[in-house]
This record gives sequence, structure tokens and C-alpha cells, in this order.
Amino acid sequence: MDRPLHRYSLGAIVLHWLIAYLLLLCLYQGLALRTAPAAAKFDLFRDHKTVGIAILLLTCVRLAWRLAHPPPPYASPLSPLERIASRVTHWGFYAVLIAMPVSGWMMVSSSPIHTSTVIFRNWGLPGIPWPDVPGLQSLSFGHKVALTSTSAQAHDLFGWSAAGLMALHIVGALKHQLFNLGPVMHRMLPFGAIPFVALKVSPGDVAKGARALQDGGLVLMPTETVYGLAADASNPEAIAQLFEAKGRPRFNPLIAHVTGLEAARRFARFDERAVKLAEAFWPGPLTIVVPITDVTAVCDLARAGLDTVGVRAPSHPTCRALLMAFGGPVCAPSANRSGRPSPTTFEDAMDETGFAVQASLDGGPCTVGVESTVVAVLPGGPVRLLRPGGVARDAIEAVVGPLAEADDDAKRSPGRLVRHYAPDAPIRLNAAAPEPGEAFLGFGDGFHGPLSLSPNGDVREAAQRLFSCLREADKLKPKGIAVAPVPETGLGEAVNDRLRRAAGFVG
Ligand code: TXA
Ligand code: MG
Repeated sequence: MDRPLHRYSLGAIVLHWLIAYLLLLCLYQGLALRTAPAAAKFDLFRDHKTVGIAILLLTCVRLAWRLAHPPPPYASPLSPLERIASRVTHWGFYAVLIAMPVSGWMMVSSSPIHTSTVIFRNWGLPGIPWPDVPGLQSLSFGHKVALTSTSAQAHDLFGWSAAGLMALHIVGALKHQLFNLGPVMHRMLPFGAIPFVALKVSPGDVAKGARALQDGGLVLMPTETVYGLAADASNPEAIAQLFEAKGRPRFNPLIAHVTGLEAARRFARFDERAVKLAEAFWPGPLTIVVPITDVTAVCDLARAGLDTVGVRAPSHPTCRALLMAFGGPVCAPSANRSGRPSPTTFEDAMDETGFAVQASLDGGPCTVGVESTVVAVLPGGPVRLLRPGGVARDAIEAVVGPLAEADDDAKRSPGRLVRHYAPDAPIRLNAAAPEPGEAFLGFGDGFHGPLSLSPNGDVREAAQRLFSCLREADKLKPKGIAVAPVPETGLGEAVNDRLRRAAGFVG
């Protein structure tokens, strides 16, 4: 791995493995006590108590150590649900590791047939007397019996809980190691690293892909429908580069790819119908167009200035691994150049846009082969089918009832189904200079105002800044917005298309 290996501190590592060993031993002894012949029971019991008290003491030390030394970061980000699961398992574990010996200690201390506890004697060490829980031996006989039996039941329960948590803990660590493609298990090793096995793809490739996205680069990403050309949804510069690589004549809204509903809800509003659809078809080939709530998570340019966003959680394991490693929404149109068929094999995808990417992930041939079905679920409107695709109409109708058709306008350009971002102020195009009361979006000529589309006359930069400049200009509540001429070259065509729409000349 190119990432640095983060480890727990040495103290934490030693305590972790010591406690793990003692816990296994203790659980084994606890079980053996149930069936051991009477003659062996006394020694075994004394050992069991020694180990239990050692666990109690070491857990207290471990807790103190943990509070003084925070654990190392994860190699790949955790979803909020995973973070909660991890916290519950870890703190639950500490709680049980304390409750288990304490309940045993209470059981012994309140036992009407009293035996004093001497620990470590069977380990070749001089025995150390261990006190009873104060006050319990002076209870009445009846109270002692009741307390012993309650403590015994609790002790049993905590023992099983410890075994369960241990299993959960191991499964969690394995899951991270194998599926989340972030090596985590070495974090608890004093040295070396566990060979990193991942399913289907090389983990190095996924990590490289995630880094390329973080750096603002493009990545060829397999999905179950078609190969996508992926970029960080929150990075306008990366999205502009993506449009350029595809040679898109104008900015169509892109689909934001996420790991699931929870991730999607961080930036978009899902009503009851949208939740039902996501729960029924995600991960899978269904894109749901919903209102955007965090316009920075999926930038203006990626949404073509709409106040909605198309979201989907793909099921392809490599794609999911990439999304998890990256940790945020990823925009990806099909990886073909504009106007050509979508690629469904790695080789085709490389032929189409491989020249523009910083990383490419071979996920084999796509299993669905047609693009995702796109439905719009917007407030006050019916669920509309915008594009037929990988999920059949019948299946969707079984979940949310009959689908409304997209009207003709929306069919020609799905992006126009809902309002494009159009400023309130009237727009005047090809303006050489602003008139009094107008805000001015400059272009080139070293025009450096906050509303300059690009001081150096770079059409790609103009594309990145277009929607935010329009929004900023509108905030000034000007009489009008004057825009300097932008050449039709490269992405300039798309900038002008969008400007003409905003000015009301088109559609
Ligand atoms: O299967 C797929 O959906 C593939 C893979 C890569 O995920 N992606 C794909 O993206 O086909 P693309 O960009 O080729 O098509 C996206 C479709 C377009 O028809 C677009 O207009 C529509 O989704 N769309 C996206 N966001 C929208 C929005 N906010 N409102 C209306 N339509 C939207
Ligand atoms: Mg396409």
C-alpha cells in the first residue's frame, strides 16, 4: 500500500492481545467448569478466577490507555452506520470485559458457601489473596442466596456477550480488510502487514482510483450497467474536465453515484416514495432524481444548474469499493464520447475515453449492459419515468404505483424537466461592458472581478465558474446581468448554450 501504515500504540497492541488471549482462556475455563469432574473443579475454578481478575485489571489499564492514546485513523472512511457499529462493539466490549469479572466477583463474594479467593497460585507464583466485594458476607442468608443466583445469571449472560462481541469484532475486522479495501488488521500488529486480499480487483488499483478522484482526476469506473467516466461530484474543475473528455455538446446533468441511501441523504431529499424505490432497487440500476439539499456535495456544473440531482447506488463490487474508498458522491456519465454507444467492456471503455483518465478499473463485462432507469421523484409531482433502463417499468410500478410519462420536452432533454438555474435578473449576452446598474460577468482581458468567468480567457474555467458566477451576480440584485462574449470553442459551446438558456433564447 502507498498509504502509510497507521498502528495502535505498542501499549495498546500488547494489552489488546493479552486481553484477547485471557478472554479466550477464561471462556474456555467457564465452559469446562460446567462439565469438569468434581476433583478437578476446585483448581479449575481458582484458575478461572485468576484469569477473570487479570482481565478486569488489564481492561482498566487498557481503558486508561485508550483515553490517553486515541486510536489511529481508518485507511478508508467509515459510513456513519459503520462508525456507530464500531463504537458500540468497542465500548460494549470494554463494558462487558468489566461486567463479566465483576459479576463473577459478586457471585463468589456473596456465596453462602464461602471460599476465599487466592489468585495466581496455580501459575507458579505466590498466591495473592483477593478481597471479597465489601459488605456482601454480612448479608442475611436469604439475601446471599438471591444475590449469588442473580450474579451467576448475569455472569453467564456477560460471558456469552463477550463471546458474541468477540465474534462481531473479528467479523468486522475481516469485513474491512476484505471488502472495504482499506487494510485495517495490521493496525493491531506490532510489526509487518497482513497480505492484503481483496475480491475481484487489485486493492492497489482501487486505492489509486480513489486518490485520482481526490486529486481532481478522472477514473474509468465499471458499473453493472455500463462503464462510467467518474469524477469527484463536488469538484467543478474535475467535472469540467469530464465534460471536455466526453466532448459533450452541452451540460447534461450527471448522475451522482453513492454507496447507498444513507450517503445519498446527506445531499438530497428523499420523500417516502423515493425511499421506497431506493430500498427496493439499490444497490442496482435505478437512478432517482430528487431535490438537492447540499449544492456543494454535487456541484452546480454536475447538476447543470438544476435544483435537483440524479442519484444512484451501483451494485458492481469494484464500483462500490471505489465509492467506499473515496467516501463521497462520484459523478459518472457513460464513458463513451458524446453521441457514441455506451461501453460495456473495459476494452471499449478504454477506447472511448481511456486517454483522459488517471486510473482505470477493469471490472469485467457489465452485467446489465443498458444504462440505469431514471425516474424523477419531485415534491408535488407524480413519479415520472425519464429514461427506461436496467430496472423494468413493471418492477418500479409494483413499488410506487403507475408511472407518469416524461413530457415531450423532458424526453428531448431530461434536464429540462425541472427548472434550470436561471437568475432573476435579465441577462444580456455578448456585452462589451456593463451598463449602469448591471452586474458584469467578464471573460478574458485580465478582468479579475469576483464575477469574472475566467480572467485568462480559459473556456474550461468559465464552464466551472458559470453557475456560481450567475448565482453570485443574482445575489447583488442588479438591474440586469451583462455577460462578456465567450468563444464557441471547446467547452465554450456548452457555456454559451447554458447562457442562452439562462437568457431565455432557448427552450
Ligand atoms: O447506468 C447509468 O446510469 C450510467 C452508469 C455509468 O451509471 N450512467 C449514465 O449517465 O448513463 P449519463 O450521464 O449517460 O445519463 C444520465 C441521465 C441523463 O439522461 C440525464 O439527463 C439524467 O440521467 N439526469 C441526471 N440528473 C438529472 C436531473 N437532475 N434531472 C433530470 N434528469 C437527470
Ligand atoms: Mg450516456
